[in-house]
Order: sequence, then structure tokens, then C-alpha cells
Amino acid sequence: MNQPFPYQVEVGNAETGVMYGEPGSDIPSVSDVVLIASGKGGVGKSMVTVNLACALKQRGKRVGVLDADLYGPSIARMLGTDNGLEYNEAGQVLPAVSHGIPSISVANILPPEAALVWKGPLVAQALVQMFREVAWPELDVLLVDLPPGTGDVQLTILEQIPVTGTVLVSTPQKLAMADAERGVALFHELDIPVFGIVENMDSYICPCCGEKQTLFPQGGVKTLAEQKHVAYLGGIPLDPAAQSNADNGTPLFETHGADNLIEAFEALADTVEKSVERERRLRLADADESTRAAHQAFWERLVD
Ligand SMILES: Nc1ncnc2c1ncn2[C@@H]1O[C@H](COP(=O)(O)OP(=O)(O)OP(=O)(O)O)[C@@H](O)[C@H]1O
Ligand SMILES: [Mg+2]
Repeated sequence: MNQPFPYQVEVGNAETGVMYGEPGSDIPSVSDVVLIASGKGGVGKSMVTVNLACALKQRGKRVGVLDADLYGPSIARMLGTDNGLEYNEAGQVLPAVSHGIPSISVANILPPEAALVWKGPLVAQALVQMFREVAWPELDVLLVDLPPGTGDVQLTILEQIPVTGTVLVSTPQKLAMADAERGVALFHELDIPVFGIVENMDSYICPCCGEKQTLFPQGGVKTLAEQKHVAYLGGIPLDPAAQSNADNGTPLFETHGADNLIEAFEALADTVEKSVERERRLRLADADESTRAAHQAFWERLVD
């Protein structure tokens, strides 16, 4: 029988206080998890998530999107999937699919006018279920749209889910950059690779003449990236003409005439793809290393 989503399971273990699944275990069918994060709210994380997904898909990657912003979900609206979810025969929830991208968001189950009134433990539980108990198809990359900041959601994911890397989003303003710096610090502290910082709204596409103009002082995000020894992933122009489409289910990447944006996302997708491949190679090298160590230990025991 189908269960309501999020599945109601016992919250917490009275003895240990732990309520989560196996830390470090893999998500069936998902090869790599990439987080899209920012320190400050409203800098364009959800927009970057959706358009990066489109750009990766265009490069032939199998990509899905998980909306981890439970209190302010945007993905369903941006991908145009804000209706109900279906279940498979095993009673697992199926991701919604639009633009060829499977995605899941609490907005698929909650009407927009409903407030989400979940306390921390239920949020953590629902998040883990969104990763592990959804019938994700085979995916090369699962992009995760995070809420702003470095709070419970981020920590729950980092504790419970093997993450390949993170893309940080900042705008050129000093306040956004200061919070982005905190984001870099969190991921470095927890040894999660930071693929780099992308600078959203670094320029402005004039709706009248289509000219690219600068809006804010230039160079700050690049300098921050250099200081923190992470890559600068390029700028994404603010395109007012594409924006209303974006919030009505047509990603900027698919908006006719948004060539500057499309170029920016193609470049970003290229870097993210290369970064994920590099992490995969490192994982394989680590695995080889431990196999070599196991062989060595075997022969040493035999000789003894
Ligand atoms: N480069 C851009 N060009 C046009 N519109 C943009 C651009 N970047 C963001 N927007 C628009 O700005 C608004 C805020 O962006 P978005 O929702 O992606 O930010 P966010 O960082 O996810 O916010 P939150 O922290 O609340 O989750 C959205 O309406 C989005 O479509
Ligand atoms: Mg968002």
C-alpha cells in the first residue's frame, strides 16, 4: 500500500538519540551528489540549480534535482512540477519529471499557501527520506538546492549523505560575499570539496538593447575565491527578460534569446562535470590504495 510522503517512521532512538540511516552508505542509483549552496538568501541558488541541471542534461548527463529548501521550496515552481507525486508498486515516491529532469520538492506535496510547521527532527528525517527513499532513476549527478546559510539542513545532509562537492553562489555585494566566505569555511571544515564560487548577477542584460552592463563593483568574488583557494566559476548575468519565464516553469537556459545566460551555464556545467570526474578518479585511486594495503597486509600475515 502507498504510504503518505514524507513517510511517518519513528523519530529518534530513545537510547542513542540517533534517528538517521547508515552514515556514509550510498544512495542506490545515484552516482554523485553535488550541493548548490550560499551564505545569503536570494542570491540565485535555485536558479543556478535548475539551469545547471538543464546544461548538464544537454551534455548527456543523467541529472536529477532535490529541493532541500523545505521551508522555502522553489524547484517545483522553477521546473513547472508543482502538482502531486506518484508512487511505484513498491510504494516508493516517484520524482516528478519535467524538461527531462527528475526532481523532488516538498512543494510537490504542499500547496503554496500551506506553511511547513515541522520541527528539526522531522525536517532531518524528511530530508534523508528525500535522498534515500525516493525511487530515483539511474543518475550521474543529483543536484541539491540548499536553503541559505550553514544550519540544520546543511549539517544533516553533510552528516548523512556522501557528498561529492559543492558549488557556492554569491552575488557581487559585500554582504553576500561575507556569507559566502562562511559557506567556504563550513565545507572546508568538514572536508567537502568546494568546486568553486559562481558570481550571479555580475552584469545586467539591458532588455531594450540586449547590451551587457555591469551593475556592482567588479572583481570581489574573484578575489574572495583566490583568497580561499577555490575556483572562480564565472559570472552569470541578470536577465530581467528571462526572469518571469524562470519563475513560471521555463528555465532561463531554455528561454529563447537568453544567449549570455546559456553560455554562462554551459561553461559552469563543463567545470562541474570535470570536478565530479576528478573526485571520481580520486575515489578510485583511494580504493586502489586500500586494495594495495589489504594485499600487503595479507602477504605480511602469510610470511609471519
Ligand atoms: N541571473 C538571473 N537573471 C534573472 N533572474 C534571476 C537571476 N538570478 C536569480 N534570478 C531570479 O531572482 C529570484 C531569486 O533567485 P533564487 O530563488 O534562485 O534565489 P535563492 O538563492 O534560491 O533564494 P533563497 O535563498 O530564498 O532560496 C528568482 O525569481 C530568480 O528567478
Ligand atoms: Mg532557493
